[in-house]
Amino acid sequence: MAFIFAVMGQRNGAGKTTTAANLGCMLALSGARVLLVDFDPQASLTDTLGIARADADAIKTLYISEDLLARSVSATYEENLSILPSCGALGSLEIEHQSSQEKTIILKTALEPITDRYDYILIDTPSLLEFFIANAARAADAILIPVPCFPGAVGSFVEFRQYIDNAIFANNMNYKYIGVFINYFSPASRLCIKTLDETRKQHTGLIFETCIPRCRTLAESSHAGLAAAGYDVTSLGSIGYAKLTREVLYHVGAKVV
Ligand SMILES: Nc1ncnc2c1ncn2[C@@H]1O[C@H](COP(=O)(O)OP(=O)(O)OP(=O)(O)O)[C@@H](O)[C@H]1O
Ligand SMILES: [Mg+2]
Repeated sequence: MAFIFAVMGQRNGAGKTTTAANLGCMLALSGARVLLVDFDPQASLTDTLGIARADADAIKTLYISEDLLARSVSATYEENLSILPSCGALGSLEIEHQSSQEKTIILKTALEPITDRYDYILIDTPSLLEFFIANAARAADAILIPVPCFPGAVGSFVEFRQYIDNAIFANNMNYKYIGVFINYFSPASRLCIKTLDETRKQHTGLIFETCIPRCRTLAESSHAGLAAAGYDVTSLGSIGYAKLTREVLYHVGAKVV
């Protein structure tokens, strides 16, 4: 039975997709069977890993057809790392289920028949599309929130946490753990260091020890259809994600395979 992570957050460009790709890659490199679920109509995770986008006509039924879902999983360049691709038409899923009482359980229900095939599933989500965030939150065992290292951004995750905990998704939340980490950390920036210190003081226990550095390799690798480890395993970005992966697994009590 796979342990399911959802990577989410309020901020555009905070590093959600980069985190799903790199955490997934690190777990796969450790020998775990990993499925990435691109649950964002932007399809950035699909594009980042250089995978063909999902078929626009098929995507409407993908999340309600067990057979189609299993057949839609693509292999990636990394052994053990598979992906359920997305495309722009994924946005229509919300419209199709608009009036359904069960509209926030579509992803959880769809993934159930295939969870035994993987050790970890990582769901990438869009920033503000409530339908997608709610579905991911209900499917997930743990939620990970990357936050860019500047003063205003850090405070906003508290609001986001209230947002996911609040009335909108109050029923049947599945996740047992929520962790926040700082992205785009620049050790040479005094503002960054101050922001990190203050954030840790204000939110003791919520912020991971590991910060992901601002690193050119993370940006370049995503344009090369690779996670950072596939591009340059010695880069600070790869090292950061390797460390974050160990810390995340430790906190959620999941095993490194
Ligand atoms: N630590 C980092 N250092 C340098 N570049 C980064 C870092 N993290 C992410 N990036 C780059 O920043 C851009 C935005 O990152 P990403 O797409 O992961 O954000 P996102 O939160 O998924 O955005 P969206 O809200 O659009 O889904 C990408 O080009 C990515 O390669
Ligand atoms: Mg994204």
